[in-house]
Amino acid sequence: RPSLPARIGILTVSDRASRGEYEDRGGPAIREWLDKALAGSWTPVARIVPDEADLVAGALRDLSDEEGCCLVVTTGGTGPAPRDVTPEATEQVCDKLMPGFGELMRTVSLRHVPTAILSRQTAGIRGRCLIINLPGKPSAIAECLEAVFPAVPYCIDLIE
Ligand code: MTE
Repeated sequence: RPSLPARIGILTVSDRASRGEYEDRGGPAIREWLDKALAGSWTPVARIVPDEADLVAGALRDLSDEEGCCLVVTTGGTGPAPRDVTPEATEQVCDKLMPGFGELMRTVSLRHVPTAILSRQTAGIRGRCLIINLPGKPSAIAECLEAVFPAVPYCIDLIE
């Protein structure tokens, strides 16, 4: 199991979870998955924001620049609905896009659900931080992370 530098951001993007109308299941699912995948201790820095591009971008900047996260994983807001803006906010804050992540996650997800083509999830680099979008469904979290995670520690090494 790889180990990663200490701090990892977990950003849930959801109108309803941010208003407390339902419990956030995506954030905890990411945390549990990373706990099993990583060797050694790490510090989750969790945030929940509504589907507003400025608030998503602000949280991504805060997690990378102020909180010093080497990795931020988002969940939700990647679909085609008018309020789904997580990929736009990710592109807005990143210096470099990493399109291979979205391509691989959609390919793998299509083995599970035909609606996987509806996710516009992407990834990118902001400074020394890798940002990866996952869909909102908790089942998508393990499916997507399993696919891309083997490349994540090396990517973080390369941007340090
Ligand atoms: N990917 C996986 N692995 N599993 C899923 O169930 N759901 C899809 C897709 N990708 C899904 C998935 C659906 S139904 C949608 S609408 C899009 O992700 C976008 O989801 P989001 O808006 O919650 O990010």
